[in-house]
Amino acid sequence: MNTDSLFNPFSLKSLNIKNRIVMAPMTRSFSPNGIPTDEVANYYGKRAAGDVGLILSEGTVINRPSSSSDPNIPHFYGDQALAGWKKVIDEVHQAGGLMGPQIWHQGVMDNHASGWLPSAPFEGPSSFNKPGFENGVPMTDAAIADTIAAFGQAAADAKALGFDTVEIHGAHQYLIDQFFWDGTNNRTDIYGGKTLAERTRFAVEVIKEVRKRVGEDFALILRLSQFKPAAYDFKLAKNEQEMEQWLSPLTNAGVDIFHCSQRRFWEPEFEGSDLNFAGWAKKITGKATITVGSVGLDGDFFGAFAGQSSAPSSLDELVRRLDRGDFDLVAVGRPLLADPNWAQKIKNNQTSSLKGFSKEALMELV
Ligand SMILES: Cc1cc2nc3c(=O)[nH]c(=O)nc-3n(C[C@H](O)[C@H](O)[C@H](O)COP(=O)(O)O)c2cc1C
Repeated sequence: MNTDSLFNPFSLKSLNIKNRIVMAPMTRSFSPNGIPTDEVANYYGKRAAGDVGLILSEGTVINRPSSSSDPNIPHFYGDQALAGWKKVIDEVHQAGGLMGPQIWHQGVMDNHASGWLPSAPFEGPSSFNKPGFENGVPMTDAAIADTIAAFGQAAADAKALGFDTVEIHGAHQYLIDQFFWDGTNNRTDIYGGKTLAERTRFAVEVIKEVRKRVGEDFALILRLSQFKPAAYDFKLAKNEQEMEQWLSPLTNAGVDIFHCSQRRFWEPEFEGSDLNFAGWAKKITGKATITVGSVGLDGDFFGAFAGQSSAPSSLDELVRRLDRGDFDLVAVGRPLLADPNWAQKIKNNQTSSLKGFSKEALMELV
């Protein structure tokens, strides 16, 4: 297995990454009351020391009363939480890594298993988390304006703390994706509409605000998914034209890198071509893209939530697509939960010591 091209450097604006390997954002819920601990800093520092080129943090929530459904998900606001994040980025930099926080608002959610609830009702484009399941309130104009400002503030804080980039979480049926999806966005105002292009407006305003707050030279990543956890095979954009209508306004608003979330990176996005989501996004927008989804593993991440383990698998198909220019960067999730040295082992061709993924890796910060 020749993986040399995974170890070529990549540069874009504020990012000068030593290789193409990105740690995928993964919620860990190890930040009591939203404050990242020293163990969290140590956890990310170990991935930097293990040669991950760019670390994306677990989703970390913006300053809205119901942006989180879990008391142990880290905040990206408030002095104590930001001091915790400062330790994280300092530790990552000391270990030679780069990092951006994944800025998040969860939108309308299920209640947390513990019974914990935020201080205000969940909020979204509508009261729905998915068709048929209501658990929140539709956002007013004032709530939307405040949320856009809070995304901007979080991004500005990320830059001020010394992070190298910022990723906006627009995927996986959370707030921004709830605006994209007509299953959750039934609004009749300017944030709704029959077309995906119309329902992109909220995300466009978030991106414009973030860009305004971080300046032109700071790399801005947007994570998107076609699928929803409530609808695995769903596609927001059903063909190339619809994808163009979705991604072009986001590109014009200021996205530098599209992070295209798939469960399995090798799956073609549309019939008639083997290009995956990241491949199409790059072709349509001309922007850099990140692929993700079961890289180096033989089972996908929904299986992981159901307690399934995955064994290591070949990177040949990934490298073929990278060499063909389909995407620029490759995000790796579960292998890096289980093993901070995954990237180093790939680099040194130590394939026999790869660990794969088992559900125990979810239980602690290794
Ligand atoms: C424990 C866990 C937590 C996750 N949390 C997030 C998250 O906070 N934000 C996000 O965008 N994706 C999240 N994901 C999805 C991952 O970023 C990634 O897209 C997915 O695991 C597929 O990559 P993999 O097959 O390499 O694990 C999570 C995945 C796992 C396994």
